[in-house]
Amino acid sequence: MITLEKISKRVGARTLFEDVSFTFDEGRYGLTGPNGSGKSTLLKIIMGVEPATSGIVTLPKKVGFLKQRIEDFRDFTVIDTVIMGNNRLWNAMAERDKLYEEEMTDAIGMRLGELEEIIADEDGYSAESEAEVLLAGMGLPEEYYRKKMHEIPTDRQFRVLLCQALFGNPQALLLDEPTNHLDLDSISWLEQFLHNYKGTLVVVSHDRHFLNSICTHIADIDYETIITYPGNYDAMLVTKTSVRSRAEDENKAKEKKISQLKEFVAKFGAGTRASQVQSRIREINRLQPLELKKSNIQRPYVRFPVPEKQSGQVVLKAEDLYFGYGGEPVIKKFSCEIHRGDKIAVIGNNGRGKTTLLKLLAGKLQLEKGKLAPGHGLDIGYFPQNHGEVLNKHTKETAFDWLKSKKDIIFDQDVRGVLGKMLFGGDDAFKPLSALSGGEAARLILGGLILTGPNTLILDEPNNHLDLEAVSALAWGLEDFKGTAIVATHDRELINGFATKIIALEEDGIHIHAGPLEEYLEKRKAALKK
Ligand SMILES: Nc1ncnc2c1ncn2[C@@H]1O[C@H](COP(=O)(O)OP(=O)(O)OP(=O)(O)O)[C@@H](O)[C@H]1O
Ligand SMILES: [Mg+2]
Repeated sequence: MITLEKISKRVGARTLFEDVSFTFDEGRYGLTGPNGSGKSTLLKIIMGVEPATSGIVTLPKKVGFLKQRIEDFRDFTVIDTVIMGNNRLWNAMAERDKLYEEEMTDAIGMRLGELEEIIADEDGYSAESEAEVLLAGMGLPEEYYRKKMHEIPTDRQFRVLLCQALFGNPQALLLDEPTNHLDLDSISWLEQFLHNYKGTLVVVSHDRHFLNSICTHIADIDYETIITYPGNYDAMLVTKTSVRSRAEDENKAKEKKISQLKEFVAKFGAGTRASQVQSRIREINRLQPLELKKSNIQRPYVRFPVPEKQSGQVVLKAEDLYFGYGGEPVIKKFSCEIHRGDKIAVIGNNGRGKTTLLKLLAGKLQLEKGKLAPGHGLDIGYFPQNHGEVLNKHTKETAFDWLKSKKDIIFDQDVRGVLGKMLFGGDDAFKPLSALSGGEAARLILGGLILTGPNTLILDEPNNHLDLEAVSALAWGLEDFKGTAIVATHDRELINGFATKIIALEEDGIHIHAGPLEEYLEKRKAALKK
């Protein structure tokens, strides 16, 4: 059980929520709301890693927390990253190891005794084996366990963070967008897993299907507060819209009544019916329509401009590409020709090499073997799966600075124009990169592509972190784009919205299909039956 008492949070000049009180009981809660509404912030407040402006949170003893950022762990080993899930244990072990390096004194000896007690209390001696059990359950191969986080593929790093959250049997589990970076098979594994979880679960997600399948309640952030609805996401939408439209209807009725009363007052105000006029005025005051707060749901405007210089008819020609990370090759014998105007979805389960393939095509990774010939006038805009590769969150740079630096000669107004379309209006343009939410970061990177206008887009899971409005705006933008687009994603709605070609990384190799997804899936099913 997690209890919030009168929690308020303001960031800069904005109120995210005001005086929120409620209890997350046993059950599976979806925490929803558009990008930037304060979902991650609320989880951080609950965990005590970020202060609330006011209010009190009460928590059970052990709470697991899935973090959204993998960069913070890049130099730790996989095993250590998991063990960090138990803060008390991790801090005690770290302090102990440091003290052992110093010269022994009585004070140090005493402290070591205390630390050993904490470590024993937290089952520190079985920590590694417990971590290994979790990692194995998550399908991570043993050779990863002693590697540094940044040495294993990105999507695997996210699974490690999931193990971190689950470490030490927490009574409550807070997950921030767990399905990002997971393929459909892994998502159904996670759904199954969460169904069996017995404690209090709070999960942030923009994945409607996932929310529908696991949630018993939805806590929705909107109108500067948090409202809890029983049922899953779709049930919440129905209730939320009907409550809202009832309130709007009531307001309309009141306004109509008020204008009738005002008419009466205007007509007879100066006349003889003084008492009737007075009673009408009293009624007008009583009827004041409620001030309905505006919903925070907004839609960005994603339109990639017509490229200044067109690419040649053949955009990229790959012949027998080969790439591996030391061991087994990830990409082998991949050949294809990409033509101007192709709208390609790159699909396939985690670990099959989508990111590797896109990085090779974008020239971000050195080929081991094979030939990659760029076509005439090729100009690539790349969107990495891990936002940290292009947005350095450890500088003081603002969204405006970052975007402006993308182009040599550019007017401030044009930068502001793109920021506005990406929903960074007014002062939001000067938010520091370190403050951006996951979805805001993704929108800013898209803004960079819109500003620079490349003729070929290579996007690696751009829909991760984006809310439903933004994903549909992106699908539209890609379909409308006059250049070439290659996009890795698991999101069917996005794929159906733009893709006219499929590159599928399957267990038995890479398949290329010159048609939409449904057609490819049919063909694949038929081929597998044979
Ligand atoms: N120091 C700051 N200055 C200004 N704004 C800030 C600051 N820190 C956070 N914010 C803003 O607070 C809002 C809430 O951020 P949060 O990360 O909680 O959003 P979220 O609901 O998790 O969004 P997403 O769905 O994109 O992950 C964002 O608009 C963010 O830019
Ligand atoms: Mg977030």
